[in-house]
Amino acid sequence: MVYSAKDYSNLMGMEGFSETLLKNHFTLYQGYVNNTNKLCDLLNSKAKDATNPEYAELKRRMGFEFNGMRLHEYYFENLGGKGVLDKSGKLGRKLTEDFGSYEDWERDFKATGAMRGIGWTILYQDNIAGKLMNQWINEHETGHPAGCILILVMDVFEHAFMTDYGLKRADYIGAFFKNINWDVVEGRLK
Ligand SMILES: [Fe+2]
Repeated sequence: MVYSAKDYSNLMGMEGFSETLLKNHFTLYQGYVNNTNKLCDLLNSKAKDATNPEYAELKRRMGFEFNGMRLHEYYFENLGGKGVLDKSGKLGRKLTEDFGSYEDWERDFKATGAMRGIGWTILYQDNIAGKLMNQWINEHETGHPAGCILILVMDVFEHAFMTDYGLKRADYIGAFFKNINWDVVEGRLK
């Protein structure tokens, strides 16, 4: 099968996100889709030989390209909303149960996102225990808790904010929160 880039042009005009930033971000995302397809083709064409470094490195690369593609899809899909969570709803109650209050969860999620480095901040639900957790992901592929469900995904690579915010990552995180589509996010909860 061939992966196709999805269209997120509905996000154009979002408050706090310039057209230039979003256009560049969509182009970067398309690059991950193209590279995932390219890698699949290359791996299919190679002898399945673990002693061949070329095969091994292509295999390793898949974690970067595939996650780069898929995480951007989760990210763009959880944007474009009004940024208001009904705290008495299913997700609001669950956040309170697992973090003490919505505000405590938000503080921890934002602090995770403000960490130095490039990657992602993700609210996960443990598929087995059901518990919610905020997790830092290095680049695209390091730190994913096994088998957990992605609930809210925030890109904190510099390309996600530098065009509009320079080094003010906290201001970008504030803009991200204003545009969260909580209906989509809540729908991911088990
Ligand atoms: Fe990105």
